[in-house]
Amino acid sequence: MKLLALSSVLLLASAVIAAPKSGPAREASRVSRRAGRKSQPLQKIDSSTGTSAAEAADHVYETNWAGAVIETTGVQSVTGTFVVPVPTTNGSGAAWVGIDGNDCYTGILQSGINWTKSGSKVTYVAWYEWYPASMEYWTDFAVDGGDTIKVTVTATSTRSGTAVLENLTQDTSISHNFTTSETLSPICQTDAEWIVEDYLESFEFVTFADFGKVTFTDASAVTTAGTIGLGDADIYDIEQETGVPRTNSSIISDSSLAVSWIQ
Ligand SMILES: *[C@@H]1O[C@H](CO)[C@@H](O)[C@H](O)[C@H]1NC(C)=O
Ligand SMILES: *[C@@H]1O[C@H](CO)[C@@H](O)[C@H](O)[C@H]1NC(C)=O
Ligand SMILES: *[C@@H]1O[C@H](CO)[C@@H](O)[C@H](O)[C@H]1NC(C)=O
Ligand SMILES: *[C@@H]1O[C@H](CO)[C@@H](O)[C@H](O)[C@H]1NC(C)=O
Repeated sequence: MKLLALSSVLLLASAVIAAPKSGPAREASRVSRRAGRKSQPLQKIDSSTGTSAAEAADHVYETNWAGAVIETTGVQSVTGTFVVPVPTTNGSGAAWVGIDGNDCYTGILQSGINWTKSGSKVTYVAWYEWYPASMEYWTDFAVDGGDTIKVTVTATSTRSGTAVLENLTQDTSISHNFTTSETLSPICQTDAEWIVEDYLESFEFVTFADFGKVTFTDASAVTTAGTIGLGDADIYDIEQETGVPRTNSSIISDSSLAVSWIQ
């Protein structure tokens, strides 16, 4: 079932390739372009809001994102801390924080980690990305299940900023500074997000490993109007087959959010 939504999107994308980018056409084009690059913004395909018995009222259901999104203006920085999960079934997933993955069509600033379990082996990788530049991996920064990781992305302008990943358990950190020379496409600074993602690989969703629960703590965003918490965030959950949620997210407090794997 999970490929159904995707293949219809890809069909739509090829059908509208020369059409002006608006509404669903723009959405589809964006999805297929991003899918080819293995990097995914929010995919507004199956969007529904608490309509089936299994769905939670007031949660937004999408195919690839679970967590919280705040739509606002003047977003300068987003931070969140989480314990790296140890997946218990084969597959992958990602946890990250970002600016502009939701509604900005020109750029996205994001950073986080991915996990992959294959038999008894679990691997992790830390990364940062400023779309449309490709995702880069901090391969020399070891991440392991149980580590407490703090991720912070900061926009110092619409075309420059930093991504910082800290291992709070060891007090180590790694960062990348995006400069305007490498960051050609501006972000909008209009949304902040804390996300667990079932991402695409070769146009298919990766098997979504059972990660148990990822809890983002010390979550906040700095905007030109001040620091904001999760109070006004929209809650997102993953659903690739109508009425069959794969995650359950909940806001615990103004600074914490839990995303639980369901199936
Ligand atoms: C890591 O996750 C992102 C989605 O957040 C995905 O685009 C990327 O392909 C993944 N990379 C690896 C090596 O799994
Ligand atoms: C998990 O992956 C391993 C390694 O690829 C494989 O041997 C095993 O059969 C897989 N387990 C399941 C339940 O698919
Ligand atoms: C992060 O902390 C863990 C201990 O929780 C340690 O094993 C690991 O090596 C640390 N990674 C880095 C890059 O410092
Ligand atoms: C990025 O800039 C900050 C402050 O200017 C500096 O402390 C940090 O080392 C830089 N990171 C890299 C990877 O150059």
